Amino acid sequence: MATTTRTRDGYVLWFTGLSGAGKSTIAGIVAAQLRSVGAPLEVLDGDEVRTHLSAGLGFGKADRDTNVRRIGWVAGLLSRHGVGVITAAISPYADVRGEARAMATNFVEVFVDAPLEEVRRRDVKGLYARADRGEIPNFTGVSDPYEPPAAPEVHLYTDRETPEESAGRVMAYLRQRGLVT
Ligand code: ADX
Repeated sequence: MATTTRTRDGYVLWFTGLSGAGKSTIAGIVAAQLRSVGAPLEVLDGDEVRTHLSAGLGFGKADRDTNVRRIGWVAGLLSRHGVGVITAAISPYADVRGEARAMATNFVEVFVDAPLEEVRRRDVKGLYARADRGEIPNFTGVSDPYEPPAAPEVHLYTDRETPEESAGRVMAYLRQRGLVT
């Protein structure tokens, strides 16, 4: 008798937003929730990727594009083989995010939106103050552009939602799409 085997669909949860907007925090909560239901998962966090996959790259447009393309390529491979992938890099340029979308199975763009004044006020890593003093060139939002997604699948407002609420909205979207049961 013939049997059919259907593997689980992979997906790419692509977090994008300014430094300090909450990408890594929310990604971490979502990752913990997905792991607790036993879903196969890999996390490609921006800071971590830059110490491994993209060591040596800087923050000019060409290097950022290379960084984001590498993340998109790895995420695409994993998602094609049924793995859920979470990425959390600023990924400021819309066209390269579009390339990542094209390489992925079930691309879910998550815009981690916080007003610039808010992330400046938080300044979790003290980098905005340093950028203002001219110590960090090409700093996103200060001296480098951030192109917001035009039509993200999920739009989070981290100045009005707790990280737990934002993570809950991402989980709800994944359930609604049938990517997580
Ligand atoms: S991306 O633009 O290539 O996607 P990525 O997410 O990997 O950026 O790295 C962003 C992190 O690098 C920031 O959260 C911050 O800690 C650090 N960083 C150092 N220099 C810069 C810079 N010029 N612009 C933005 N982030 C920087």
